[in-house]
Amino acid sequence: MARKSGATALGSNDRKLVAAAIAARELAHAPWSRFKVGAAALFGKRIVKGCNVEFDVYGLTNCAERTAVFAAFANGAAREPMTAIAVVADTPAPASPCGACRQVMFECGGPDLRVIMTNLRGEYRVVRMLELLPGGFQLDPQEASVAPPPRPARRKKP
Ligand code: THU
Repeated sequence: MARKSGATALGSNDRKLVAAAIAARELAHAPWSRFKVGAAALFGKRIVKGCNVEFDVYGLTNCAERTAVFAAFANGAAREPMTAIAVVADTPAPASPCGACRQVMFECGGPDLRVIMTNLRGEYRVVRMLELLPGGFQLDPQEASVAPPPRPARRKKP
């Protein structure tokens, strides 16, 4: 259910995340759709921002949510668990992440990830990841936790 302020207002941590997502949205590069999206993800105590980035080859576009998650890996923030993500767009209802982003968010933050969907009117909807993506793809957890194969032994100098 979308809500505005009042008794059900967001807490200060959520508000910080939403403010960061709104700031990230300003940096969106959306020359083709003109549809700007901002995201901000919480990894430990670090907020990592993302925006959508579009290219002339449309299929290479990256959504705001995935930009945030990829940036978190690139800058080391993803060493801490991802516990929340806010996403914002100038939409009549709170912005809803696309299917590809849902999968990435699910894999990175797990089923309990807090997802704050919002718009520029200040309406929001807060859900757990599992609600957005029931049955998300996961490699067999046992298989995924197998240690990487040992490095090949160094050849002895002739
Ligand atoms: N977009 C996002 O950034 N996040 C979503 O979850 C859905 C769509 C972007 C991609 C593209 O730049 C623009 O919105 C229009 O599809």
